[in-house]
Amino acid sequence: EQDPRIGGIAASIRVVPDFPKKGIMFQDITTLLLDPKAFKNTVDLFVERYIGKDVSVVAGIEARGFIFGPPIALAIGAKFVPLRKPRKLPGEVISEKYVLEYGTDCLEMHVGAVQSGDRALVVDDLIATGGTLCAAMNLLERAGAEVIECACVIELPELKGREKLNGKPLYVLVESR
Ligand code: PRP
Repeated sequence: EQDPRIGGIAASIRVVPDFPKKGIMFQDITTLLLDPKAFKNTVDLFVERYIGKDVSVVAGIEARGFIFGPPIALAIGAKFVPLRKPRKLPGEVISEKYVLEYGTDCLEMHVGAVQSGDRALVVDDLIATGGTLCAAMNLLERAGAEVIECACVIELPELKGREKLNGKPLYVLVESR
């Protein structure tokens, strides 16, 4: 049985055809943020799932993981760690490249932000091909953390990104086609 809050969350997400390029149906969560009830319900659903699970770090992926991750981290009493695009973090970093439709991109994390024994939750707005979440998990595991789960607001199941996560559990609120 689906939680009754999910329908309102799904309805608050705007789909923009052909953005940023032709053929892409862009899932725009800025309209979810304009709906305080939908935004709160989104955060609450994640908090209810992870509170009491001994998560010590919420890792948010740039850019929209920086919107959903921090309120979850505060509510469950975990630290928040930003995983950033290259050359944004000022300290010593570890980097993980991943493949995009055209070319490659990279995520970076500060050395010392997480350590062995940390129990991590990875948060982003959306999983498409899964490459981004995979890179995020690699960073955390290289630093010695255990990734408990990945959490996204939206999944595009047709892209089968879930299969790229090496069996790591993925929790999503909304599936979009
Ligand atoms: C989007 C989205 C995820 C990623 C998912 O970010 O917010 O981070 O793509 O794609 P994947 O599952 O195929 O890896 P985007 O690349 O638009 O970057 P941005 O957040 O910096 O705009």
